Amino acid sequence: SSGRLTGIKSALRVVPNFPKPGIMFQDITTLLLDPKVFKDTVDLFLERYRNENISVVAGIEARGFIFGPSIALAIGAKFVPLRKPKKLPGEVISEKYVLEYGSDCLEMHVGAVTSGDRAIVVDDLIATGGTFCAAMNLLERAGAEVVECACVIEVPELKGRERLESCGKPLYALVESQFERRS
Ligand code: PRP
Ligand code: MG
Repeated sequence: SSGRLTGIKSALRVVPNFPKPGIMFQDITTLLLDPKVFKDTVDLFLERYRNENISVVAGIEARGFIFGPSIALAIGAKFVPLRKPKKLPGEVISEKYVLEYGSDCLEMHVGAVTSGDRAIVVDDLIATGGTFCAAMNLLERAGAEVVECACVIEVPELKGRERLESCGKPLYALVESQFERRS
């Protein structure tokens, strides 16, 4: 599997100074252009989660929507989108979180998950971990058990892994960011 990880690393693209000066943007769209590498990425998640009785894959808008549904279909779990504010039409619960500049919010439909559900949360990247923490809070408020957060890229300098561990939650990240800084 180290061959697959090497393939994933080399298929990622780092775009300096996007969207702001000083940010090294970690771009997964180049990985999606190589069907073998895209499949390897999904397969690595499947190998980890297929026998864990996961009933919910929660995907974080927007790039968690690229990887989450493939995982959900293959393991027979429901897919639950966690969306930015005012996008979901039904009744929602919301969770605000702080970003480097300003704040943001994630919402989930009431009734999408219930107590007894076992969930993983999927996104493209972890930086500070604030987004994953907000996602986990939503799921746990609705009574689900969060088994793990999963993403393609980890930015180790921003200590998101430590932040999740301090709430007792494991992180599964396939590769570390190349150069430093977040998307
Ligand atoms: C990026 C990335 C993660 C989040 C990680 O999304 O896709 O969702 O930041 O950062 P954190 O670990 O510090 O919370 P962004 O908020 O830029 O929004 P987008 O996915 O909608 O573009
Ligand atoms: Mg995001």
